[in-house]
Amino acid sequence: VRIEWDVNAAEKGGYEHFMLKEMYEQPKAITDTFSPRIKDGKIVIDELNMTDEEIKAINKIMIVACGSAYHAGVTSKYVFEGLSRIPVEVDVASEFRYRNPILEEGTLVVVISQSGETADTLAALRESKARGAKVLGIVNVVGSSIAREADNVMYTWAGPEIAVATTKAYSAQLISLYLLAMKFAYVKGEIDDTVLSDMLEDLKSLPAQVEMLLNNKQKIQRFANRYLAARDIFFIGRGIDYAISMEGSLKLKEISYIHSEAYAAGELKHGTISLVEEGTLVASVLTQKELYKKMISNMVEVRTRGAFVMAVTMEGNTEVERAADYVIYIPETNKYFTNSLAIIPLQLFGYYVSVGRGCDVDKPRNLAKSVTVE
Ligand code: AGP
Repeated sequence: VRIEWDVNAAEKGGYEHFMLKEMYEQPKAITDTFSPRIKDGKIVIDELNMTDEEIKAINKIMIVACGSAYHAGVTSKYVFEGLSRIPVEVDVASEFRYRNPILEEGTLVVVISQSGETADTLAALRESKARGAKVLGIVNVVGSSIAREADNVMYTWAGPEIAVATTKAYSAQLISLYLLAMKFAYVKGEIDDTVLSDMLEDLKSLPAQVEMLLNNKQKIQRFANRYLAARDIFFIGRGIDYAISMEGSLKLKEISYIHSEAYAAGELKHGTISLVEEGTLVASVLTQKELYKKMISNMVEVRTRGAFVMAVTMEGNTEVERAADYVIYIPETNKYFTNSLAIIPLQLFGYYVSVGRGCDVDKPRNLAKSVTVE
């Protein structure tokens, strides 16, 4: 039985598009996803169904997903490895399922999916189970195929997401992955009560910080309107900021049809910098203090070749202004959580470029909300 969404203007809550409405629902999606899992200052994830001993026995995490869910997985690699020191491998489901994957004793497979119906991700789940691995699903649609077939499921409480381009479900996936990484790190003794308490404070500040960044929308719209005719837009970052560059690039591509690529900033000199011409827009994300200097030198490199550089960086990093033409500041947060804030201006940028180009924001050409066929 197909559930036809009876969608109309009323469903959009007064917003012009579902995508904008869902961007504004991100503070609630974030809160609803972490609140039930924080009790008396501790992280409690009952749905994991794993004892502390079983958690300690995890010696590798294999994350498998598609599209934005894959990008959330790439972000979480830095968080899991940084906090819990458990090695993490991330792969797109359409590659994982056909490469005869090696899944050894102690490997936890985590599949991430908003719809819970993506064919490649469901196939990757089945492949993993057939090879004897334990599979945890991080899913938004309750009772979906992936939710039903995973050994355990940790729901993202983002609510129904209508726009093809994911925003609130992606943000909720990040929160779920942060909670898992912090839980594993705490159980393994890699972080103590003080670190956990500080991180939980930062986590609880995210919804209000996201709300504040969303209210920047007019400024971003004015900037976006300068790039409606752009041919190429590059997103560069290092570490966790490379992961968010991937998501920012996909958001722009899928709803505005402008070609865009995300690059590990250190890779520019290995070929791609030859693509930078006079006026090329390069969005540079730099939220990791230990990488600021490196990132600023990359920004100078592209700028001397004619690029217009937009920077997304932490408040206080005024050093960046000498290497950027346009700076968007995001508030301070834990270094592992910055993707949850940096993504907001990048979502708004993609959205307003799409609107300015007259694209069908909620239903971009050639795309479906859930890719249930291969
Ligand atoms: C994201 O904006 C895209 N719509 C797409 O990449 C999506 O993330 C991907 O198809 C995975 O979908 P899922 O999360 O429902 O499995």
